[in-house]
Amino acid sequence: MRKKIVAGNWKMNNDLAETQELLSNLKMQLVKKPEAEVMVAPPFTNLHEAFKSLKDTPVIVAAQNMHQNENGAFTGEVSAKMLKSIGVETVILGHSERRAHFHETNEILAEKVNAALNNEVKVIFCFGEELKDRQSEKHFDVVAKQLKESLYHIADASWENIILAYEPVWAIGTGETASPEQAQEMHAFIRKNISEAFNENIAQEVSILYGGSVKPANASEIFAKEDVDGGLIGGASLKAVDFLEIVNAF
Ligand code: PGA
Repeated sequence: MRKKIVAGNWKMNNDLAETQELLSNLKMQLVKKPEAEVMVAPPFTNLHEAFKSLKDTPVIVAAQNMHQNENGAFTGEVSAKMLKSIGVETVILGHSERRAHFHETNEILAEKVNAALNNEVKVIFCFGEELKDRQSEKHFDVVAKQLKESLYHIADASWENIILAYEPVWAIGTGETASPEQAQEMHAFIRKNISEAFNENIAQEVSILYGGSVKPANASEIFAKEDVDGGLIGGASLKAVDFLEIVNAF
């Protein structure tokens, strides 16, 4: 059975004191063990604090990005090996903000995926179409290309270290959510696409999260869809009470 996962992407938010407050609220309000696997992804500077604070909880601490090279003259960057050495076992790759503001292409993302997998770091691989793609009915093609060019070179066995996050760009931070039907339609397409490129077993086992303006008010109806296995949550993950309501929305 594939895993249900809810991951909070904290993006570039919260200094140390604010992070400590969010972490302590999370811990305080995490009264029962959630059915879903729960992850939070703080900025690099707050990873250590998150590990310290969440060590006796089931919450997994993930990173938001990494560089594709192992080391070298890449000022300002952090490698998979470095993340792994401080205990990070999961990294978000391919977020649309990384693609848009930092020019991460499908090819660069393929290298990042390889670097993560080579270091035994699991990948939450993000992808999704822009508004113009959906308006011109190219959304399935765009998603198929993103998957093919960044992910479909991996070995069958590597799929157990991949979590997919379908995030239509037009729904991220906009308050505009894909309808549960739109999410289901795309998630079913993705599973079929993986089944054709690999096999049905891999397609059925991979968790596919939806991301884009998920909130307590809409999480249950999105998560109720057959092919939606959870969510990648931005804005609403910055308030412990909202995030946990989403975590418990299955
Ligand atoms: P949002 O962000 O929930 O604020 O729309 C989702 C994401 O960027 O992962």
